[in-house]
Amino acid sequence: MEKIILTGDRPTGRLHIGHYVGSLKRRVELQNSGEFDKIYIMIADAQALTDNADNPEKVRQNVLEVALDYMACGLDPKKSTIFIQSQVPELCELTTFYLNLVTVSRLQRNPTVKSEIKMRDFEASIPAGFLTYPVSQAADITAFKATVVPAGEDQMPMVEQTREIVNRFNGIYGETLVEPQILLPENEACLRLPGTDGKAKMSKSLNNCIYLSDSEEEVRKKVMGMYTDPDHIKVSDPGKVEGNTVFTYLDAFSRPEHFEKYLPDYKDLDELKAHYMRGGLGDVKVKKFLNAVMQEELAPIRERRKELEQQIPEIYQMLREGCVAARAVAAETLKEVKDAMKINYFDDTALIEEQQAKYSEVQ
Ligand code: TRP
Repeated sequence: MEKIILTGDRPTGRLHIGHYVGSLKRRVELQNSGEFDKIYIMIADAQALTDNADNPEKVRQNVLEVALDYMACGLDPKKSTIFIQSQVPELCELTTFYLNLVTVSRLQRNPTVKSEIKMRDFEASIPAGFLTYPVSQAADITAFKATVVPAGEDQMPMVEQTREIVNRFNGIYGETLVEPQILLPENEACLRLPGTDGKAKMSKSLNNCIYLSDSEEEVRKKVMGMYTDPDHIKVSDPGKVEGNTVFTYLDAFSRPEHFEKYLPDYKDLDELKAHYMRGGLGDVKVKKFLNAVMQEELAPIRERRKELEQQIPEIYQMLREGCVAARAVAAETLKEVKDAMKINYFDDTALIEEQQAKYSEVQ
């Protein structure tokens, strides 16, 4: 069986370092590993509209921002098909058929959707399209026969629901769809990178994200203002590293070679943590180190983005070509789905002949 990746993001804002360590960085590594036969990266504008129906301009503007962030990180249209969800209408047809294989109560139990409904105060009036977006996500994944979905932990319920739909479909209509696996980040800190204020969720409205497109100075300010251990007041105080955002970020970003380069008094992160816990290590020193580490990682991304920002028409052309390529693949799967469901009246000469024969006998 071919190894195929599909994943994507909602274009509701620029991508931040949570997206980066949680999924984007891995995608680029997988892309360059040469292990995959096909890679599809989708900008999920239709899904973004399920809770932004009243703000289409936000979604429209951010399609480009996400495309720029993707390419700045190293996604390469020569190796990965980057496309926009709404431009592949076959996905909507698949969604319609899959909706019959899912119950409303199953959708209401989806933990990610549940917490999103709470966050958005949708309890009293949930848009139907929002409640059912996991089904449309199943269409996204299965249309490309994806075997692997590299994504964050919050996408686990979506992939699980996709697997259920695949099993149900194949059970009723015969082996047609492929069951996907989620591929989560290996590093615990990357699984759920907190905001710079220590809150679990990074969000634009909380102003606690570091964006891939932030300037050097913006990154420095955000790092120096980061939440640490509130009880670590004097340098000599012993400090906590759990729940200390600076150390969580170091878990996600630092490597032994960074110590050699920027903080040679320490062999590795364990040594630095031990000193902090003992007392005698100030927050500013640790933050300066984190800043150096993050700047090293983010500088090339920022520079590539600057270049790409001068090539907007070319980016749209790349996306257009991605959409054409994606559509061809989705159309093929849709045809298989319709054949399996026997909604292929005009291609089925046997059906026409049988029905004619039935009436001819009666006469
Ligand atoms: N739900 C994803 C997000 O919140 C976006 C998305 C849509 C997606 N379809 C997908 C991710 C299919 C992985 C696979 O960003």
